Amino acid sequence: MIDNNEKKCRHLAVIMDGNGRWAKAQGKPRTAGHMVGADNVRTIAIAAAEMGVEYLTLYAFSTENWKRSKDEVSYLMKLPAIFFKKYMKEFLDRGFRIRIIGEMDDLPESTAAVLKEAETESEKNTGLSLNIAMNYGSHREILLAAKAYAEDYKNGSAGDLDEELFESYLMTKDMPPVDLLIRTSGEMRISNYLLWQIAYAELEFVPESWPEFTPEVLRRCLEEFRQRDRRFGGVKNV
Ligand code: IPE
Ligand code: IPE
Ligand code: MG
Repeated sequence: MIDNNEKKCRHLAVIMDGNGRWAKAQGKPRTAGHMVGADNVRTIAIAAAEMGVEYLTLYAFSTENWKRSKDEVSYLMKLPAIFFKKYMKEFLDRGFRIRIIGEMDDLPESTAAVLKEAETESEKNTGLSLNIAMNYGSHREILLAAKAYAEDYKNGSAGDLDEELFESYLMTKDMPPVDLLIRTSGEMRISNYLLWQIAYAELEFVPESWPEFTPEVLRRCLEEFRQRDRRFGGVKNV
């Protein structure tokens, strides 16, 4: 028996990789790749919503990306302001809800302010949940969750820990687990992304860089996802 829910990709996560290499191949600076990449976030968010995705979680800046040049980091910190200025109105019209995962406290004040404003402005929306991972790292997330739980346990406000309770301390609380994780640009690694949340996700690694990742490529990925036999540790029902 086919369970339609099993076949539906409710939560899609994407490691948007390859902006820099794409730009270099065109003889442009890496930042030009990030600019085109940001525009593509809009294109893919709209396409994903139209294809029935409910949660789209995009890796925009990792806790490890601070190692990059000062100029590149500073450009990436300015991008959210440019991005939301261009597209926020359209996102609101489409009913998208913006959520940020990651440690906002360590971002430049102006970047954090723009991100918080996008969250607040869209918090009542019920359409696509567009989650941007900014200064996000899974190790940090799990560590912070463990610390917060320990604190609550110590002061008596939390009981025994189980999976469900632990999830409520993660930055993705209230979101379903990831169904499909796509990484662009041919790298086959997870790079500290959503380690808890992808426990039973299907994984797809596509050769296209993020700026080349079109709605058509997304459609192919979702089609491939529907062909997968998700067993969750059980035995296939034939
Ligand atoms: C992904 O593209 C965007 C970020 C990590 C911010 P990259 O900047 O990693 O591009 P490549 O992988 O160097 O080509
Ligand atoms: C992962 O890409 C982070 C983002 C897409 C934001 P990276 O390009 O930083 O990952 P590595 O360094 O190749 O593992
Ligand atoms: Mg990269």
